[in-house]
Amino acid sequence: MSRSAHPAGPRHADVLPEGHYAAPPADLNTLDPKVWAQTVERGADGVVTVGGIPVTRIAEEFGTPAYVLDEADFRARARAWRDAFGQDADVFYAGKAFLSRAVVRWLDEEGLNLDVCSGTELATALSAGMPADRIAFHGNNKSAAEIERAVHAGVGRIVLDSFQEIVRVAHIAQSLGRRQRVQIRITVGVEAHTHEFIATAHEDQKFGIPLAGGQAAEAVRRALRLDGLELIGIHSHIGSQIFDMSGFEVAAHRVVGLLKDIRDEHGVELPEIDLGGGLGIAYTSDDDPREPHEIAKALTEIVSRECEAAKLRTPRISVEPGRAVVGPTAFTLYEVGTVKPLDGLRTYVSVDGGMSDNIRTALYDAEYSVALVSRTSDAEPMLVRVVGKHCESGDIVVKDAFLPADLAPGDLIAVPATGAYCRSMASNYNHALRPPVLAVADGEARVIVRRETEDDLLRLDVG
Ligand code: LLP
Repeated sequence: MSRSAHPAGPRHADVLPEGHYAAPPADLNTLDPKVWAQTVERGADGVVTVGGIPVTRIAEEFGTPAYVLDEADFRARARAWRDAFGQDADVFYAGKAFLSRAVVRWLDEEGLNLDVCSGTELATALSAGMPADRIAFHGNNKSAAEIERAVHAGVGRIVLDSFQEIVRVAHIAQSLGRRQRVQIRITVGVEAHTHEFIATAHEDQKFGIPLAGGQAAEAVRRALRLDGLELIGIHSHIGSQIFDMSGFEVAAHRVVGLLKDIRDEHGVELPEIDLGGGLGIAYTSDDDPREPHEIAKALTEIVSRECEAAKLRTPRISVEPGRAVVGPTAFTLYEVGTVKPLDGLRTYVSVDGGMSDNIRTALYDAEYSVALVSRTSDAEPMLVRVVGKHCESGDIVVKDAFLPADLAPGDLIAVPATGAYCRSMASNYNHALRPPVLAVADGEARVIVRRETEDDLLRLDVG
């Protein structure tokens, strides 16, 4: 690896410009287990390993940038969710966070169900052998073809998102001679404490049917009247990257309130409620997420308490974590290309990827951490902004972080907690080729989603 000398840029806390960073960590070589996948550690030679494999070997064999996913960690987290909720509840992994056939097989083996939100996510799940009755089908604008495919495949539930869809699904199910199990997604009017674009249960947005004004009750009335539908429950998803359980508490209270109204009006007790996903993970050392068993305990207690007060049988609960299962299990491995110190500001570190493999920083102002992983360094910390290679100044991967001042082109750096909503939201901006996803387990790395090639891109260009 080449090293070029350069001025180190601003280093000390007393000369730092304004920003969202804490003081530089005491030791830049230490990897905080809170943000790194379980099997990640720094080897005796200073090179970081995952599943026993040095990142330098991964970079050599598979190139950079690459998403490196710790399979053992994924399976352990999936199991932790399943065990936390036990036999009386169901865990649906939200495939939008990251979906591939290998992931579907792991989920199946670990006893999780799957939430999909497009016909192609459904196709991926089915092609990997996920039993259709363990799949939930979501979306605020499912096409007739998607609905037909889902009903035909025999998905376990379709989550209805609008009045039109109630009729559409009923009609399609009936024409196929089926009675489709459905839930109705409602918006409970909770403002989750998260970014506006990922909060979903306040009323002024596109998902669900508002509880307010009796609309959800009317949706239930209509669904109960239609022969093609078997209404099994109510669904609520309040947002994403949430740490505070109070939003779930209010949501559960309101969902159970609706179940009670349904019982009083129709004499039916719906057997299921789904409280969605949205549980936060640690992107930086400042984040303190809850463990699945704490979340399971809190949610089941809230629902039981509310049901007891309403004199209802406690429904079967389901949840749909995406980020909390896959997010912490992967990191993105980049090679440093240029290091540009700006006097009195910060040092810009350009990597061989960027907003095409991680749009979350640009889109949500998301915070990430970063570490030098191909070696250790005793150099002083320097304030950096890790940026990509796209033609856009908002192409930022890590807005504010510290890396050693001797960082140089050719070094490998890694951004942890990129398992969720990075590959799944990746783009071909500037005709970037989307990076591969490598699963690492038991001392072996294998490609589960291959790197795109120039041929892949040119094949679509048929003009
Ligand atoms: N269930 C439903 C109905 C959802 O809409 C979502 C996420 C989930 C479950 C899973 O949420 P999770 O546990 O992964 O937070 N692209 C954004 C997140 C969008 C989430 C959309 N729906 C991000 O990168 O933060």
